[in-house]
Amino acid sequence: MSAGLQLPPTAPGARLLGTGSFRPERVVTNEDLAKRVDTDDAWIRSRVGIAERRVADADTSLPDMAVAAGRAALTDAGLDPSDVDAVIVATCTMPNPIPNAAAQVADRLGAGGVAAFDVNTACAGFCYGLGVANDMIRSGTARHVLVIGAEKLSDWIDWDDRSTCIIFADAAGAAVVGAAAEDEVGIGPVAWGSAGDHATTIRILGESTNKLHQEGQTVFRWATGEIAPVALDAIARAGLEPADIDVLIPHQANLRIVEAIAKRLRAKGAREDLVVADDIVTTGNTSSASIPVALDHMRAAGRVRSGDTMLLVGFGAGLSYAGQVVVCP
Ligand code: UT7
Repeated sequence: MSAGLQLPPTAPGARLLGTGSFRPERVVTNEDLAKRVDTDDAWIRSRVGIAERRVADADTSLPDMAVAAGRAALTDAGLDPSDVDAVIVATCTMPNPIPNAAAQVADRLGAGGVAAFDVNTACAGFCYGLGVANDMIRSGTARHVLVIGAEKLSDWIDWDDRSTCIIFADAAGAAVVGAAAEDEVGIGPVAWGSAGDHATTIRILGESTNKLHQEGQTVFRWATGEIAPVALDAIARAGLEPADIDVLIPHQANLRIVEAIAKRLRAKGAREDLVVADDIVTTGNTSSASIPVALDHMRAAGRVRSGDTMLLVGFGAGLSYAGQVVVCP
């Protein structure tokens, strides 16, 4: 016989309440890398779109960066750490499998004791975390969820491998998610999935060098072919048309991939004046951090405004992908 289980009150919709980001101080230019590996500024700019990136010092940890970004997002949202019910850290570059990042980040923020867990879907991680946070708010599991994408990729890069050391960088970005007003939906349904048949195309394998390897061309073809349909799916799930999107913030993997996704969306009706994130130029590819960092920078620069309809789409190792339409806080 049923014991009469009960569920908490639900919220009709969730929305972003604030954003924050952190980049390490140290700038590494293309010229700096050309002193170590056989590359040059022109090749990197034309093939990847990066002019410079940030690399954390040895004494700056991944949780350090996550805490800084999380604190900034809470301040932006006008909330105290005690208002947070759950912390999700999307990351694939913690120094060890345990402990996770989220519990110590929650504790250091002053939100100790709350639900805290990491999500490892690499460069899709922030959108995965946002999808979970959205469902937590709507189901009544939490009132406020802090979602952070944080990576210290420099720990896992072979600095003598010119095909990867020029791309990846360190950063953290964060967003606070909470309930939307009664008749408002601020976060659309997530479109997500995986391509585990390509699992080895981006890998860090302990039994070899313990460094990141990437089959660049294969991943490039997958990203330029398969991610625009995911973005279109996210738009359709939100009940919108491509022309409704004001801002496109894809994972900042490679500027050519970003532009290819934008081109395919415009071919499907997205506007010519669609604002497209290009944060990779000065931030590099920061995996799960790239989308929230780009969003935070674009808000600060006035490139996006409160109320704008934004399409986020992450993709990368796993292979994994996720995207959703969100309203700018
Ligand atoms: O964030 C997670 C998901 N990751 C991605 O989405 C990354 C997807 N892949 C890419 O973005 C690109 O494939 C890369 C940026 C990794 C590489 O660019 P590419 O245009 O695909 O170059 P490639 O690997 O086809 O290499 C072309 C040539 C090769 O020389 P040969 O064999 O043609 O003589 C490479 O050895 O460029 C050479 N090369 C370089 N040359 C100068 C590779 N790296 C460099 C370099 N500088 N840093």
